[in-house]
Amino acid sequence: MNRDLMYGAEVKALVRDAYRHVPPTTAAVAHKIYSESELAAVPRAAVDRALGVANHLRFADIQPGETILDIGCGGGIDSVLAAQRTGPSGRVVALDFLPEMLDRTTSAAHQAGLSNIEPLEGEMESIPLPDDTVDLVISNGVINLSARKARVMAECARVLRPGGRLCVSDLTVEQDDLPPEILTQPAAWAGCIAGALAEDDFVKRLEKSGFNGVGVLSREPLSIDDCALYPLFSPDVIHLMRNLIPADRHAHVAVAVVVRADLA
Ligand SMILES: C[S@@+](CC[C@H](N)C(=O)[O-])C[C@H]1O[C@@H](n2cnc3c(N)ncnc32)[C@H](O)[C@@H]1O
Repeated sequence: MNRDLMYGAEVKALVRDAYRHVPPTTAAVAHKIYSESELAAVPRAAVDRALGVANHLRFADIQPGETILDIGCGGGIDSVLAAQRTGPSGRVVALDFLPEMLDRTTSAAHQAGLSNIEPLEGEMESIPLPDDTVDLVISNGVINLSARKARVMAECARVLRPGGRLCVSDLTVEQDDLPPEILTQPAAWAGCIAGALAEDDFVKRLEKSGFNGVGVLSREPLSIDDCALYPLFSPDVIHLMRNLIPADRHAHVAVAVVVRADLA
């Protein structure tokens, strides 16, 4: 095993561990990202487990009947909203590598009266779906958790039908935005900032994976106070961030972007 693969295995293990035990205390994240009318259509348990970073569904242009893949579905909030939009003639394949998350998404689907959400256990680096079977890939705060992002993007391109599209939310950071003492904290990787790419790099990697018309449709700064809403960041790490990051950057430690791209 080379160093990259070992590093990748370590990252995956820490992400699994962090998300398996994440408590249902993130309704404030949901209220920051989604409108009240969107939240009214989602079961409370899924609202309490929202762990995304932005609202890409507003830009995804979901059509009735589409097959949608939600990568890293978590507690199911985006799967539920997407399944309502694609309707009974369409479906959402909800992918996560944690069975606990798939149970939560399945229960949210039942509570919302939806029968078009299909849980799928698997890894985004090796999506267990055939080629050319999906119209739209969505994902919220998940790609930045992978140590092998080029591989994830190539997998998205593989499962999409020709003419399909990707519309995702993710965090980006610019070089030197964060000090090494923060970047090396496991909690900072689980919290999506240590593994985040620069925006340019994210766009270029999508283009290299076969996407075109790549556009960044929304950018929202993420503050240290925002990070504190996610239980992935321990109080110690938040304290470290406040001490090590210059005060004039506390309101802007990363950027939550919505990126849309078409398969060439
Ligand atoms: C930040 S949470 C986002 C959950 C959900 N998208 C939301 O908006 O609430 C990340 C999710 O991705 C899943 N995940 C992380 N790495 C993964 C991988 N390599 N393959 C599949 N799922 C993964 C985690 O289990 C977790 O449910």
